[in-house]
Amino acid sequence: MAHEIYSGGYGQHLVSQFARRSLDREGAFFRPFLQPGMNVLDAGCGPGSMTVEIARIVAPGKVIGIDIGDEQFEVGRKLAGEMSNVEFRQANLYALEFAAETFDAVFLHAVLYHLNQPAQALREVFRVCKTGAVVGARDVDYGGDVRFPTSPLLDGAWDLITRVFAHNGGNIYFGRTQKRAFREAGFQVVEASATYDSFGTPEEVGSYAAYWIEFLGEMNRALVLQWCSEAELEQILDALRSWGAGEDSFYARARCQCVVRK
Ligand SMILES: C[S@@+](CC[C@H](N)C(=O)[O-])C[C@H]1O[C@@H](n2cnc3c(N)ncnc32)[C@H](O)[C@@H]1O
Repeated sequence: MAHEIYSGGYGQHLVSQFARRSLDREGAFFRPFLQPGMNVLDAGCGPGSMTVEIARIVAPGKVIGIDIGDEQFEVGRKLAGEMSNVEFRQANLYALEFAAETFDAVFLHAVLYHLNQPAQALREVFRVCKTGAVVGARDVDYGGDVRFPTSPLLDGAWDLITRVFAHNGGNIYFGRTQKRAFREAGFQVVEASATYDSFGTPEEVGSYAAYWIEFLGEMNRALVLQWCSEAELEQILDALRSWGAGEDSFYARARCQCVVRK
């Protein structure tokens, strides 16, 4: 397989942000397609807050959340408590252990754009879907980002972030290609739309900035220093710190979402 590293990492900061995701917000586009009795795969489920919500809706149907990063499952297992229709398993989307035609629905939230071979993953998803199964996917497209204020140093920060994702094998413009990717994997597109995740309160902006400071300054420091000097990196990190504390700072990230059927 071509070079691929999951760029997000499994730091407590990010995992706890993902653990706040809900079907009412991030998964609203897929909610109307879920029915009691469905067996669902949540692929790349992360900490699994939405996996557990899906399980509540489809009960007595069963939900399996899979992810390569199983250290996140503690969160989902705690949220699930005594529920018996939700399970978390470490597994890779490229090689699913399930028999063909197993699931009535598959949810892929914020995972396909991290993959270097999304077509291969979607062939696996197609295989494990029953005929008529419904699939919902939501992915970033950095081309739709709205951010304020800007400066050459902040532009430099987003440029470095973009380079890290590309180096790790992901595609931060995957969102716009969803329809084609699913169609080429054999699915029929039911609907496609877009929404924004926004960071507007001082807490949201501060925490968003803190994540990217950690992303560039710690998690990917060695890689980033191939593209800029220590001094330039420190200036960029300082600019992100000031942005994170800025009264007027705002960020909105575009997310493309689609629903398809086998
Ligand atoms: C941005 S997180 C999204 C997590 C969750 N779906 C959510 O929205 O909160 C992406 C997740 O995809 C997982 N992932 C990346 N590559 C994967 C692969 N090949 N197979 C399974 N999971 C993968 C990562 O470990 C990570 O937990």
